[in-house]
Amino acid sequence: MEISEWALRIFSGDCLEEKLLPPPGGVKGLSDERPGSPVSWKRPPRSGRLAIAAKAERKKFPRPSAMDREEMRVRSLHAFANHELMALEMMAWALLAFPEAERAFRRGLAQVLVDEQRHFQLYCQRLNKMGVQFGDEPVNDHFWRAGPDISNPLDWVCCMHLTFEQSNLDHAPFYGRLFREVGDMDSAGLMQTIFEDEIHHVRFGARWLKHYQPAEKTLFETYSEHCSLINPPARAKGFEFQAEARVAAGLDEDFIKALRDCRG
Ligand SMILES: [Fe+2]
Ligand SMILES: [Fe+2]
Repeated sequence: MEISEWALRIFSGDCLEEKLLPPPGGVKGLSDERPGSPVSWKRPPRSGRLAIAAKAERKKFPRPSAMDREEMRVRSLHAFANHELMALEMMAWALLAFPEAERAFRRGLAQVLVDEQRHFQLYCQRLNKMGVQFGDEPVNDHFWRAGPDISNPLDWVCCMHLTFEQSNLDHAPFYGRLFREVGDMDSAGLMQTIFEDEIHHVRFGARWLKHYQPAEKTLFETYSEHCSLINPPARAKGFEFQAEARVAAGLDEDFIKALRDCRG
């Protein structure tokens, strides 16, 4: 199967079966001979239980101090599952949007997409054990709102891998610790799995940021200029800044310091 054909089925499919379609024969089994013409951003279809909830129906993300209540852990895990689903939908779109990107970029992105499909399924399995199905809680369109600001692979790596995914280098261990503190070891273990994979996803972003960045700019300047307006660099970090994870992801000291110090 062609990468573009696989990505189109995921991006345009209006059911979990299509969104979670594995590449036949794995990513290595995909060909990339016909990447097609660029596809502009549009919101992927979500109907029935997957539909984005009206603003009035959405629930606030729980406070850290509320995690002793299972209901609040469910709400958090459900929100994280939706992040994975939005990420994989957007990754499928990026494969369609940037047919002229380097072959190594496209193949690397396809591999990250497969990881996000697995992450979504891991969250769903955890939720199922807690008696909840994905779609039982209202979901938002947070990641998608960056879509209109992404016009090229450099925008893409800055908005997705180096903002949404980079923030998870802080969020995943933070919520993992909260879950562990209240004795929910299964959820804590899941956050650790996500954290370890996310280091690789941010590494992918760092690699291509360095590849695309103009020589006269610092890495952080380039990054800041290509973030989406609604998710500026400060959104790439959480409550507890994990500098070591960022080093492991291949980000350099100057970038890490500039991110740590940035506001707003
Ligand atoms: Fe993920
Ligand atoms: Fe990821």
